[in-house]
Amino acid sequence: MLVNGERAGLVKLQDLTDDTPMFDLRIGRAWRGRGVGTEAVAWLTGYLFTELPGIVRIEGTTRQDNQAMRATFRKNGYAKESHYREAWPAPDGTRHDSIGYAILRRDWLSGTITPPDWHDELA
Ligand SMILES: CC(C)(COP(=O)(O)OP(=O)(O)OC[C@H]1O[C@@H](n2cnc3c(N)ncnc32)[C@H](O)[C@@H]1OP(=O)(O)O)[C@@H](O)C(=O)NCCC(=O)NCCS
Repeated sequence: MLVNGERAGLVKLQDLTDDTPMFDLRIGRAWRGRGVGTEAVAWLTGYLFTELPGIVRIEGTTRQDNQAMRATFRKNGYAKESHYREAWPAPDGTRHDSIGYAILRRDWLSGTITPPDWHDELA
């Protein structure tokens, strides 16, 4: 990923032949907090929905304490869909929760965010 001709980070698109592609994003330290991550997710979302007409959703996962990535998802219309407790082992031996976000093609097209139905348990 280039910003003004300089390498600012890396976008990795994964599972492109599956129903639901995923991605990984890494912005270089010097470029963080300047809107590059938000722009990158906006770009890759549009790219995937345009280039892969058969997909209806795109997913991403991050560690619970990664507030920058979580904000980046939210700013691009991704909804929180999953919360796996203690599912993300850290190098120091602690475990963090793993948080999943996704965007639906129909939400991307309409600019809305449809939340999951969290109240679907039988009484
Ligand atoms: C996470 C990451 C991709 C975000 O990209 P970025 O270019 O730094 O983010 P942006 O500048 O677009 O900011 C996005 C939002 O995050 C917020 N944010 C940025 N750094 C933050 C921090 N340390 N804590 C809380 N929020 C933060 C910004 O305020 C912004 O929200 P706002 O516009 O509402 O204020 C980038 O920081 C990164 O590559 N980090 C290391 C690798 C990583 O964690 N990748 C994700 C793996 S799942």
